[in-house]
Amino acid sequence: MIILSIETSCDETAAAIVNFKNNKVKVLANVVSSQIKMHSEFGGVVPSLASRMHLKNITPVLRQAFRFAKIDKNKIDYIAATNGPGLIPALMLGVGAAKALSYALDKPIVPIHHIEGHIYANWLKPIGNSKLKTQNSKLFELWAPQFPILCLTVSGGHTQIVLIKKDLNYEIIGETLDDAAGEAFDKVAKLLGLGYPGGPIIEKIAKQGNRNKFKFPRPMMNSKDYNFSFSGLKTAVLYEMRNRKEKARLKNPDVNFNSAKLQDSPISSLSEGKQNIPYPKLPITDCPLQYQADIAASFQQAVIDVLISKTIKAAEDYKIKNIILGGGVSANKELRKQFDQAVKKELPFSTFHFPLAFLTTDNSLMIAIAAYKRIMRNKGIKTWKNIKANANLRLK
Ligand code: KG4
Ligand code: ZN
Repeated sequence: MIILSIETSCDETAAAIVNFKNNKVKVLANVVSSQIKMHSEFGGVVPSLASRMHLKNITPVLRQAFRFAKIDKNKIDYIAATNGPGLIPALMLGVGAAKALSYALDKPIVPIHHIEGHIYANWLKPIGNSKLKTQNSKLFELWAPQFPILCLTVSGGHTQIVLIKKDLNYEIIGETLDDAAGEAFDKVAKLLGLGYPGGPIIEKIAKQGNRNKFKFPRPMMNSKDYNFSFSGLKTAVLYEMRNRKEKARLKNPDVNFNSAKLQDSPISSLSEGKQNIPYPKLPITDCPLQYQADIAASFQQAVIDVLISKTIKAAEDYKIKNIILGGGVSANKELRKQFDQAVKKELPFSTFHFPLAFLTTDNSLMIAIAAYKRIMRNKGIKTWKNIKANANLRLK
């Protein structure tokens, strides 16, 4: 069965063409066109620019996918597309393209929840040589896990603990009450003047930092539920930076600190996540490298501590066999390492898994895998007439 999938929920225009045969998966094409460079100039994703870029990129991305796959368009059996959640103009572009293809090729269409895609990214396992970590190995197999599974989904828009009792069956048992984990990484990187997206940069500079230097809060770590909150942590970083600047001002009354915009950074403008309006960066000169690295390391450790402790608690309570990670933040190697150690130590009867590196951030291959699961269970297959984008789609 050959599936053509499209993903445009945020700032990547992506298409994949994948051949599924029982448990074997042949990735014929997996194209991701990232807009990160453009958005990074503005310190975050600008929705109107994102949709314009999707419009510009969608046809070349699809053409390239067919060129790589070397198959005739009529060989496609199903079309799949992310129909939510995400930025509505961006989603509409991808869904519109998928609908047009579904109509033109006269093939059914499978709408996929973006987080369902991140969850099923964990199902793709390389065949044979376990060192093959990129899609270049091209031949994979589908995981056949033992349920129940617990997925910690950590992306720019979501932080959720999802209980999966069987395939395609989801119960959100915990989620963030404010910022998503990835959003917190992005906002702290902005405060430090490090650019967008924040996660990879924070991870990189944290390696040079001391994670115990600043005692940042671990919000809700000991609450009885499985919910999260990251907005206070971001504010704690902001206050630490303000205090440092204030102390420097008192010490050096003759230096003009007005060029440093930190004091004027309105915290309110930080609270709308990826959709916010860019605000001025902190001049690096006012923020020494070692200080940045210590902030990054201490902040990252606070996030990791909360994510791990909440997930372990939920896994114990629900007697989970497999714990998996999904979403862009799952690219963080320190998070994976500490998670693995914690599961081995505290949950000897559970196993910890994370997606292959190229499937951690947004891509369309994960959408094809989720669609295959749905098709095999005859769940959610539609015609082009009855699919539409939904920015606030809930996972169910
Ligand atoms: O899943 P994703 O690509 O897009 C959304 O669905 O939101 O996730 C993007 C998020 C961004 O907030 C980015 O900063 C974060 O994932 N991220 C990371 C890392 N790589 C990406 N966060 C922490 N460490 C990383 N290495
Ligand atoms: Zn995502």
